[in-house]
Amino acid sequence: MTVPEDFPHAHFSNGHPYSLYERIHRAGPVRHPGGGYWVVGTHAEVRTVLARPDLFRSRDGILLEETPDSYEAPPTITHTDPPDHTRYRGLVAPAFRPAVLRRLEADVRDRVRVLLDPLEPGRPFDAVAELAVPLPLQVICLLLGIPETDWARFHRWSEAIVPGAADMSEEERNALRVECGTYLLAAAHERREGPPGGDVVSQLALAELDGDRLTDLELVMFLIQLLVAGNETTRHAISGGLRALADHPGQWSALRSGAEAIDGAVEEILRWTSPVVYFMRTAAEPVPLGGVKIAAGDRLMVLYGAASRDRAAYGPDAGCFDIARRPEAGLLAFGFGPHFCLGAALARMEIRIVLEELLERGYERIETAGEDEHNGSTVVTGLRRCPLRPV
Ligand code: HEM
Repeated sequence: MTVPEDFPHAHFSNGHPYSLYERIHRAGPVRHPGGGYWVVGTHAEVRTVLARPDLFRSRDGILLEETPDSYEAPPTITHTDPPDHTRYRGLVAPAFRPAVLRRLEADVRDRVRVLLDPLEPGRPFDAVAELAVPLPLQVICLLLGIPETDWARFHRWSEAIVPGAADMSEEERNALRVECGTYLLAAAHERREGPPGGDVVSQLALAELDGDRLTDLELVMFLIQLLVAGNETTRHAISGGLRALADHPGQWSALRSGAEAIDGAVEEILRWTSPVVYFMRTAAEPVPLGGVKIAAGDRLMVLYGAASRDRAAYGPDAGCFDIARRPEAGLLAFGFGPHFCLGAALARMEIRIVLEELLERGYERIETAGEDEHNGSTVVTGLRRCPLRPV
């Protein structure tokens, strides 16, 4: 089997291409005919690759277009390997500690309530525009310490930064990226000069690596990554999760009656939506993987969403949405190993609160109220429009 030459670009207009993923599961690592890289999609292979940054490096690029000859590794948490990665991660990990998240929870709940207040039984609403876009954006801005008056600008910036998230010319994208970087850098410099706050911008502005403050480039890359990582991903999990509950009214009823736990629904929503499509790794040395020989310098496309639907890991019903599922195979939607998503607990909290607050309102069910629209992205996939109706 080979993957089509136009993979991934022509295959995400309706979200994850599950039938292609099934063929990849059966075939094991598959060589892309044009790109020359390996496509890796079984649960076991994805986990193996992510667990071994010594064998499968991030520093040679994590996006398809970041090829070693065209690119210089930026100083970011995602583009480094241990030990550099460990030091970067240590700077920002405290902001995601359980105690910090517990303090944030009441604020997040308030935001969810404000966003849900306009909902009326029987009235259609767009779960993307009215809930899934503003919530994660507001939460990440709260965490970063961005004033509320600037939140709208952050939405536009985050759209510009995720490849394929919005229809925009490259020129427009670049201009917005620069604008965002300039804003964040100015905010960090302000924190260095004025009284520091308890927010992440202050923490990074004042952080030191081996006695030196972060460079401007490091600061910008760090902050932009947090903004983007916490936004599009959680957005697609929320909207895709609500859409799945609308398509499976029995599961909404099981949540309402308390027959099924909300935490189980959150895990299944994450597996089901798996918003991150792929990141790349590069083999540091020759290594066998799933029956093929990977050569030193070979690139691998790690498909998180494919691993999430692997029957070998989740059973023959891996393609069914089932909030009662308690899989032994771990969730891979947040990755695995040293790069495991730093914001996983935050994302889980946001999804859980959305479900809790919707259930609190006593809706009998959530119905589909029109056609969905996919964003078509090959990096972070999800819905651009999701009309639903609480009943
Ligand atoms: C449903 C929501 C989310 C999903 C599916 C998701 C997915 C992922 C995945 C797959 C990775 C692994 C990258 C790799 O293997 O190289 C990752 C890393 C990361 N995520 Fe998330 N993420 C989500 C939400 C968040 C949130 C809310 C934040 C908070 C700002 C966040 C921050 C990060 C950061 C900083 C990393 C880099 C970690 C590292 O390289 O050590 N994510 N995420």
